[in-house]
Amino acid sequence: MDILVINGPNLNLLGAREPDIYGSDTYEDLCKLITDYCEKEKINVYFYQSNHEGSIVDRIQEAMNDGTDGIVINPAAYTHTSVAILDALKAVKIPTVEVHISDVDEREEFRKLSYVSLVALKTIKGKGFEGYLLAIDFLKNFISDLKNND
Ligand code: DQA
Repeated sequence: MDILVINGPNLNLLGAREPDIYGSDTYEDLCKLITDYCEKEKINVYFYQSNHEGSIVDRIQEAMNDGTDGIVINPAAYTHTSVAILDALKAVKIPTVEVHISDVDEREEFRKLSYVSLVALKTIKGKGFEGYLLAIDFLKNFISDLKNND
């Protein structure tokens, strides 16, 4: 099973960026946590981080042809603005789970709107880095069920 983990703008600055909200662990720590978990679960995991909306759209489109079974995405600020990322996820039809490190519902009003939620099978928020592992777990079960019913 191949899972692609996409992180949007400013998540490369984890650890340095608003540690009171996002914690003091870095983006590299996040990737290691996920890699170790996926190794145990026998999942192939790939990472992509970009600060550019169009590059994220391009990477989602590539996933259509590279064997990706599931996508975990934290679109960061693009969550609240990007119809382009929503449309790309709709176009590729790959099962997707949305993750937010913080609880976006408990913050500013504008963070309550998520375009990606319209296509995501599930949204996990406010669980810190652990949220990515919960998303992978959910996708693993969802994709195995899909494959078993084929
Ligand atoms: C975030 C929440 C977004 O509102 C914010 O713009 C981010 C990170 C989160 O992981 O909690 O950059 O997606």
